[in-house]
Amino acid sequence: NTNGLKAGKTRNIIEKIEEAGKNCIIFYGSQTGTAEDYASRLAKEGKSRFGLETMVADLEDYDYDNLDQLPEDKVIFFVLATYGEGEPTDNAVDFYEFITGEDVSFSESADPPLGTLKYVTFGLGNNTYEHYNSMVRNVDKALTKLGAHRIGDAGEGDDGAGTMEEDFLAWKEPMWAALAKKMGLEEREAQYEPIFGIVEREGLTKDSPEVYVGEPNKMHLEGSARGPFNAHNPYIAPIVESKEIFNVKDRNCLHMEVDISGSNLSYQTGDHIAIWPTNAGQEVDYFLDILGLTEKRDTVISVKALEPTAKVPFPTPTTFDAIARYHMEICAPISRQFVATLAAFAPDESSKAEMTKLGQDKDYFHEKVSKYHYNLAGLLRTVGGGQKWNNVPFSAFIEGLTKLQPRYYSISSSSLVQPKKISITAVVESQLIPGRADPFQGVATNYLLALKQKQNGEPDPKPFGLTYEICGPRNKYDGIHVPVHVRHSNFKLPSDPSKPIIMIGPGTGVAPFRGFVQERAKQAEDGENVGKTILFFGCRKRSEDFMYESEWEERKKVLGDAFEMPTAFSREGPKKVYVQHLLKERSKEINELLEKKAYVYVCGDAANMAREVNTVLAQIISEQRGIPEAKAEEIVKNMRASNQYQEDVWS
Ligand code: FAD
Ligand code: 2AM
Repeated sequence: NTNGLKAGKTRNIIEKIEEAGKNCIIFYGSQTGTAEDYASRLAKEGKSRFGLETMVADLEDYDYDNLDQLPEDKVIFFVLATYGEGEPTDNAVDFYEFITGEDVSFSESADPPLGTLKYVTFGLGNNTYEHYNSMVRNVDKALTKLGAHRIGDAGEGDDGAGTMEEDFLAWKEPMWAALAKKMGLEEREAQYEPIFGIVEREGLTKDSPEVYVGEPNKMHLEGSARGPFNAHNPYIAPIVESKEIFNVKDRNCLHMEVDISGSNLSYQTGDHIAIWPTNAGQEVDYFLDILGLTEKRDTVISVKALEPTAKVPFPTPTTFDAIARYHMEICAPISRQFVATLAAFAPDESSKAEMTKLGQDKDYFHEKVSKYHYNLAGLLRTVGGGQKWNNVPFSAFIEGLTKLQPRYYSISSSSLVQPKKISITAVVESQLIPGRADPFQGVATNYLLALKQKQNGEPDPKPFGLTYEICGPRNKYDGIHVPVHVRHSNFKLPSDPSKPIIMIGPGTGVAPFRGFVQERAKQAEDGENVGKTILFFGCRKRSEDFMYESEWEERKKVLGDAFEMPTAFSREGPKKVYVQHLLKERSKEINELLEKKAYVYVCGDAANMAREVNTVLAQIISEQRGIPEAKAEEIVKNMRASNQYQEDVWS
């Protein structure tokens, strides 16, 4: 395993905790950073409330075959996200395979192998996916089977229902009580203790060559960025084309072409591209302003972990401006627990009381904060009436906010047709919220929109246009660039092009299918025998958001009758028409194709569409084959298990 750990550091977890004097390890399996954040919060709380000597650990940094040697006065937490189709996150793959493996074995060969291990688990999942929280469930099962003892309930947070944070808060109190009892811990009055120390670096300015002003790592700082490009090291890719593909005023859908020819990156049709966004200038300004840091925005600081096992989540020396702009999710929803922490540092007593109430009362928090999609600066402006929150140690923000995360997009081109150019299809996130003056605007998509406007010399849309650093830190890049990496997926065309395929992708769900159809057209041009290729597409109105309309016609010219594209326009007639209604209308044909082992692909909205399509397919099979629905559902399950039914869905 070459990931993560630097040469010379131990992969032996027992050695590590002995050396660092810890008694509580909090492992995380995290894809988008949320599980990592929860792990850090638990570590902090365990220390401040119960005096536990905690450390947070990335699952991919350690080996597990000596877990049976963990001394009995220690405890391990597993904070595990489930990714995609019930998969472990990238950093948890090795651990998952080890612990759930048939022939898992440990150094001491005791019976049961993990009889002395105490553990705590919390899972992060999304109930709109079939394999809800399967990662934590399977790990919990495996640990129990190995004889380990769980403390408290196996917690499960549900992102699908939007209750992740509340599920977490509700789970952790009884868990702490159980853990305190088991380990004989006494709760004490929690005092805020910073995890990070901030040191101003006199003599350095933001122009000093050793100061990071947004560069993700040392290679980038030194101008010698090189691969492998991955989730720790993006490739700064030129955008060679960008355009609007909706035909309507109030919504935007971007088509972009990203050139990866200058890198060793590669992709396969159906993979995902990760876009590393930058926060909008206005949001950076609001954030620094309300913290009273405007004057100091370019002050150079070093951030040091005061805890030997804590990791500073960005490279330093750097500036407050760069941290806010390039490294932290300053626009994301705020956790209620973080609001409670901030209460202690409020500028006056009434703000303190208000923050305390928001921290304690979940309905009140919803009414005052969540409903308006306020971010941290928005909340602090509202609560303090504009007073500066300059009593808060900056460490609290580093701890309380998530690291700025790359956003994933389903690649909408075929690697057979354009191996070194990646297409992206992204709907710009912007919502009008009753009671709020400005619209809520998503981080990455509005950044991409700004890049597109700059590239095409278009004016910023007023009045709510956001502005961004377009040419990267230090204005380093000529032309329009975006930091990216590629994530390989299992969403793949059958290797034999003569196999029939049924694709279902309304809205942006059509993205990967643009690539699939491009690929099949190329194969047909190359003289291969291409099987039936049906794409069920849906949008609001043909005249507004029918994406790539003319391109489909071109593909049709090449693929002929093999290609069909039934379309559902939901807002043209008096009644909503959705893709699943069209599937139903063609029940007989769909069933015949399934019997011929057609591959089924579903992409787009996980919350409703993908589920309803699943249900409709089972109904079709049941009706056409005259079998009970339960049996038909079983067939669909088996199709999933054998990859005949593949999903690329998000919520
Ligand atoms: P963000 O700023 O991340 O906001 C996203 C949502 O989070 C908001 O709509 C809101 O519900 C919530 N939120 C954020 N901040 C707050 C707040 N302060 N208060 C309350 N709620 C808040 N999208 C595409 O357009 N095309 C694709 O091909 C595509 N493929 C994807 C493939 C995968 C595997 C995945 C996981 C996602 C894909 N997405 C795709 C979605 C995409 O990754 C982004 O989530 C989307 O573009 C929004 O990003 P953003 O940064 O603009 O919005
Ligand atoms: P609507 O917004 O008019 O309800 C792309 O977003 C298309 O998917 C739109 O036409 C949208 O219709 C439609 N859509 C919304 N909910 C859906 C669902 N549950 N199943 C399938 N399509 C849906």
